[in-house]
Amino acid sequence: MTDIDVLLEEHRKFKPPETFARNANVRSAEIYERAAKDYEGFWAECARELEWSKPFTKVLEWAPPRSKWFADGELNASVSCVDRHARGERANKAAIIWEGEPGDTRTLTYAELLDEVCRFASVLDSLGVEKGDRVSIYLPMIPEAAIAMLACARVGAVHSVVFGGFSAESLRDRIVDAGAKVLITADGGFRRGQVVPLKKNADDAVAQTPTIEHVVVVRRTEKPIGGTEASMKAGRDKWWHELMAKASPTRAPTAVNAEDILFTLYTSGTTGKPKGIVHTTGGYLTQCAVTTRMIFDLKESDVYWCTADVGWVTGHSYIVYGPLANGATCMMYEGAPDWPEKDRFWALCEKYGVTIFYTAPTAIRAFMKWGAQHAEKHDLSKLRLLGSVGEPINPEAWMWYRENIGGNRCPIVDTWWQTETGATMISPLPGITETTPGSATVAFPGITAELLDDNAKPIKVGGGLLAITKPWPGMLRTIWGDDERYVKTYFSKWPGRPDLYFPGDGAKRDEDGNFWILGRVDDVLNVAGHRIGTMEVESALVDHHAVAEAAVVGKAHDLKGQAIAAFVTLREGINATPELLAELRDHVGTKIGAIAKPDDIIFSADLPKTRSGKIMRRLLRDIAEGRALGDTTTLADPAVVAALKDQYESIEG
Ligand code: PRX
Repeated sequence: MTDIDVLLEEHRKFKPPETFARNANVRSAEIYERAAKDYEGFWAECARELEWSKPFTKVLEWAPPRSKWFADGELNASVSCVDRHARGERANKAAIIWEGEPGDTRTLTYAELLDEVCRFASVLDSLGVEKGDRVSIYLPMIPEAAIAMLACARVGAVHSVVFGGFSAESLRDRIVDAGAKVLITADGGFRRGQVVPLKKNADDAVAQTPTIEHVVVVRRTEKPIGGTEASMKAGRDKWWHELMAKASPTRAPTAVNAEDILFTLYTSGTTGKPKGIVHTTGGYLTQCAVTTRMIFDLKESDVYWCTADVGWVTGHSYIVYGPLANGATCMMYEGAPDWPEKDRFWALCEKYGVTIFYTAPTAIRAFMKWGAQHAEKHDLSKLRLLGSVGEPINPEAWMWYRENIGGNRCPIVDTWWQTETGATMISPLPGITETTPGSATVAFPGITAELLDDNAKPIKVGGGLLAITKPWPGMLRTIWGDDERYVKTYFSKWPGRPDLYFPGDGAKRDEDGNFWILGRVDDVLNVAGHRIGTMEVESALVDHHAVAEAAVVGKAHDLKGQAIAAFVTLREGINATPELLAELRDHVGTKIGAIAKPDDIIFSADLPKTRSGKIMRRLLRDIAEGRALGDTTTLADPAVVAALKDQYESIEG
């Protein structure tokens, strides 16, 4: 893999603005040396910023590929995120400022958040949830999502949030895999003026989950979809507001071990089955808190807004745990960026005086396409820092973001990390790092990232495989119920080196030592910042009675980064029709969720295979992206490829 194209030639550089640098939380590059010299000491110092009910004496135990951090310490994540602020000077400070898509608003101070978290923790007690039990959460972006997560943490239960855009079947599979006892959902959520029928999906899912005992339903839309009184199943379903009204507003936090599980979160891999990534409490929270403070330069007076959904890891780490651990004021918005108009995000920034704004390249590219006039209508002068996450950001989008949103004055932090890493790993520190459009720059202090070739030989300058060479506090500890897959997926890339973590990304490194993440090197797509395994989509397609075989590849897409192209072979006697095409797209939507619907479906009598029967995805990618085809002589039947190419060109043309 040493031949990853070194395509990017970007030389624009931006030093941190002087006043920003002078006032930044991190002002000296000396922190990198300090962390490198005493890396356990550095992380221990960061961990001590949390509140521990029993201080840890051990920092790291590393028996590759297993790590334990702060393993004899005890804490409760909700205490560091809520109680300690509610008890002190931040009691009346806004913790969450929320706006629903229809424009309704709600602000929760830290004192109010504590009240709500305790009440919901009491509710969980009353439903029989105990330490270590799993609770699935399937909610829109409403404060109850954060409250439910923190309440789970308070009672020592493991939350498993499922993105509200996933289908009933995806929800079912995740509930079954986690063995969750309770599901928390809503009657619906608002998205582009429509109601997302969450309760209906939840009902369909729970009909096939043996472990769910109770479903708690937040009344959000009050629309007669799914969650009306009539559809509440007696004995099983309960309204959130009714339970909360009766619940005790005090509930002592359950002390957990630093290595007890805080949550599992499902993400796609190279097989059809999503992986339940397991994160524990002490290390995860430590890294979330310190990266939020240093990378976002978080100050007491900031209004911080991360536009992610709590259904993804970004929402976990940078809407809930990281910012709240720092006592920040966080914005939370329920709906779409273009509803009712394409200026909604900028209207929100102006209305609430947002100072730190963190979003994804796919959103930035959409803003670019919609035009700068939407941002120009609003006063964005309070913004002082911008962030990007989820996929490589093209230099053009980076520059547009800097100029049109950041007014050429806000530093941009491009943060590279993953569900598995828990928190940011590679990113500028905005007060000291000179940034360059498209590069996530360097590893965070205390993180060791390198580029390696196939033989684990370090590459100083050029292209290679990204590797993390030492454990870090927020790292995943295993895959829920499949420890073997943990070892195989992440620690088996370089034989005999179980100490090297392989994230699955290729990258390049320039002369200045900056990393440029190039994207996945495995069969995982990144569609609009969301990871989707090609195998998952293939399984969903093959599940349809008309499909004999399917191969899914990614193709470059202006807005989404990557789009999904599917090559499908139908069963004997079934005709390819536009109706069937629509049906297959919907089928994938039902099996996985709308985000996984293929953009293109090409029906083909055959798929290009090697003589040993392996589908040649590289060729399919070339076809999908309209490239000239290389050598096809190893194919079992080269005619298949030529036919496919003609067909693709005719639909594209
Ligand atoms: O390929 C990388 C890309 O997103 C993957 C992780 O996806 P997920 O677990 O869903 O987490 C997304 C939010 C942290 C990575 O393997 N990725 C993430 N951030 C960046 C990125 N690629 C380039 N630059 C980034 N800043």
